[in-house]
Amino acid sequence: MVLTLLTLLIAAPCLFVYGENMITCYGNVQRLTCGTGLVMVKSTIYGRTDRTTCSTGLPLSQVANTDCTSKIFTIAERCNGLKECEVKTDLLGNPDPCFGTYKYYNTTYDCIDGQNTVICEQGYSTLDCGGGLIQIINANFGRANSVTCVNGLPNGLIQNTNCYASKTFTTVAAMCNGKNKCTLEASKAIFTDPCYGTSKYLTVSYKCTPTIWEIVTCEGNTAVLTCGDRHLKIISANYGRTDSTTCSTGLPIQISNTNCYTTDTLYKVAARCDGKTSCDVPATNGFFSDPCVGTYKYLKMVYSCV
Ligand SMILES: *[C@@H]1O[C@H](CO)[C@@H](O)[C@H](O)[C@H]1NC(C)=O
Repeated sequence: MVLTLLTLLIAAPCLFVYGENMITCYGNVQRLTCGTGLVMVKSTIYGRTDRTTCSTGLPLSQVANTDCTSKIFTIAERCNGLKECEVKTDLLGNPDPCFGTYKYYNTTYDCIDGQNTVICEQGYSTLDCGGGLIQIINANFGRANSVTCVNGLPNGLIQNTNCYASKTFTTVAAMCNGKNKCTLEASKAIFTDPCYGTSKYLTVSYKCTPTIWEIVTCEGNTAVLTCGDRHLKIISANYGRTDSTTCSTGLPIQISNTNCYTTDTLYKVAARCDGKTSCDVPATNGFFSDPCVGTYKYLKMVYSCV
């Protein structure tokens, strides 16, 4: 099947993904970092799959079982969305998948584009995506280290660094996802108190998804525009040809005219689509008339969801 409908994101946050891998022997601290970008764990295997990793000084009996793997999610829950993250593996509380075998944590992760904000307890902050929409990556209310939000606090209030309010992510996502702006308060009244007597903070990571889209549809096909529960607003549109690469596969001759415009494209598309949640537009001479006979054309539209 030929791919005729090409949807491109304009101003999409560039995803600079590169695979990272971290192996940590049980009981030690696993540290995941992203130079720029935010940690996004792909998988963590807790167990043992070879005899050499984390084997120094151990008897064979503790490393012989190489068929021990359990997939765990606690590291993803704690680290996703942070620039750097440290977890003490014996505090994760994961059930033992192979008693008597010395195990390690093998985490594979990417670094993704996004923003991260920290609000100290009882503080407020507003996430702002401008014209874009907020998409929460992760959130925690609690305390995961002894350096964030500590200025002037007595030690006793910051000693517990293994404090996580389990419903933070779902709560923040429900409050903010899909909005342009969202004000959050780091309060135990909202997130409950996961560690009484410890001074907490709210960590939120998010990205802004663009609300402007470009869609290109080759002649003879139908463009489908959708905005979820928002409404279409057509920004620009042309049926014709303005370059020799778009919709050109296998067409040496019919693409030489790159100065082909239909003057009323925007008017026709706007009349058909503006204000609707979805809409289809035929990229045909029948709908737009033919501005350059003999040229293979395409319909290019830029629209936003408002
Ligand atoms: C760690 O996990 C990765 C990805 O699943 C795998 O390719 C690699 O062999 C594992 N390493 C060890 C020592 O288990």
